[in-house]
Amino acid sequence: MSALSTYEQVLKGKYPAKEHAKRVAEYIRSKFPDNGDGSALRAVLYLESRATKLLEDNDEAEPFRQRRPFYYLTGCPLADSHFVYDLASGKSTLFIPPIDPESVIWSGLPVSAEEALAQWDVDEVKYVADVAPTLASLGAVSTTGGGNAKTTVFAMEGQVSASTTFPEFDTKNFTLLKEAIDECRVIKSGYELALMAKANDVSSAAHRDVLSHVSKVSNEQELEGRFLGHCISKGLKNQAYHSIVASGRAAATLHYVDNNKPVSNKLNLLLDAGAEYSCYAADITRTFPISGKWSTESRAIYDIVLRMQLECIEMLKEGVLWDDVHLHAHKVAIDGLLALGVLKGDKEAILRDRISVAFFPHGLGHYLGMDTHDTGGHPNYADKDTLFRYLRVRGTLPAGSVITVEPGVYFCEFIIRPFLKNPEQAKYIDEAVLEKYWDVGGVRIEDNIIITKSGYDNLTTAPKDPEEMLKIINGSA
Ligand code: GLY
Ligand code: MN
Ligand code: MN
Repeated sequence: MSALSTYEQVLKGKYPAKEHAKRVAEYIRSKFPDNGDGSALRAVLYLESRATKLLEDNDEAEPFRQRRPFYYLTGCPLADSHFVYDLASGKSTLFIPPIDPESVIWSGLPVSAEEALAQWDVDEVKYVADVAPTLASLGAVSTTGGGNAKTTVFAMEGQVSASTTFPEFDTKNFTLLKEAIDECRVIKSGYELALMAKANDVSSAAHRDVLSHVSKVSNEQELEGRFLGHCISKGLKNQAYHSIVASGRAAATLHYVDNNKPVSNKLNLLLDAGAEYSCYAADITRTFPISGKWSTESRAIYDIVLRMQLECIEMLKEGVLWDDVHLHAHKVAIDGLLALGVLKGDKEAILRDRISVAFFPHGLGHYLGMDTHDTGGHPNYADKDTLFRYLRVRGTLPAGSVITVEPGVYFCEFIIRPFLKNPEQAKYIDEAVLEKYWDVGGVRIEDNIIITKSGYDNLTTAPKDPEEMLKIINGSA
């Protein structure tokens, strides 16, 4: 059964924070099997959530975004909280803010320790005044334990309050915990997949909503409003990233966020938008004709990009090398642009000379999770090869990871003109044919895919069949 069809059932349970803590602890033990003297590693993991911060010159809090490492090990969305995990006993303790009588009249009662324990998957909940004594008792073990027993605290660089200095610990490690959490986050637990399935389900319906209104509006901002309105009405208040609502040639700007231009007399709308549910992201792009009718050129480019996406998705399963999938997308793009006459010459030479990068300048996709561009992809932005420089995932894909597949073909003058000025590159591009395509702007199609042992599971249900999209736009679906 797909993650999409079962997510409501899974989400009745608790976010599996203890399972995540155990995995992170195992990763740390794999790097530090003992204290260096054969005795079992004594260590504590320490994390803080985001602190409440007021807006400048204002008495209201800044928009809050929970720290992802803290959420991963607690499932707790509260600000001003702390977490301690003792590796020896496997005990997790969450520390939450106490009741502040002054603020109850403004903000209501905060979550109590009893309510927190019922809600989140930790062993004990205390109030923040207990953080220092708890750390002191765990760190002091080495001085009272005798022998060579040492205790190490693992924490996150830049995410520890100035007042927390861990005086009772022999060793402080501020690097490995981040690495451990970043790596563990790549393979999602079933609960995480269910959260992403819900974010995808709502976002896919919001895409459909925009599709059914695109021919009736006069400005991009009305469509952004529809997308956000749909998500909020389903209880998803936050977006995973700023929506890209780009009409006409603006679609060639990869991260266009103005979203305020008139849509009349433009060919296509590129909508890249995804909501977040309980800190987990959807990241979906669709491109469609604003008028409800494809132009010849738009449809031709759409068909190439759809072929790039469908063929790349079919390649996916555990262990596939992402470089290979990305390379395949370029080969499909080259075949398609050669057939249209935008490119000319030998296809092997076009690939070798990296000419398709002028039209598909970004990577095929990225890991998705709590962050839109999620952790653990090991990109190499210094790669001398322009084909792979912007690929956000390098290496093979494990089962349980979630990756976006988002090929595109763009007509961006800023990127293509330099190719036209260099005779070694210009010889592969037919400028007269290219002239007909500038108004297409850009086409991108983006789905969110779970990698499985035998293949994949697609979380995204927003329509992408070119005829089906027309029916929705024209109200005949
Ligand atoms: N929405 C940003 C991206 O697709 O990477
Ligand atoms: Mn993406
Ligand atoms: Mn996107």
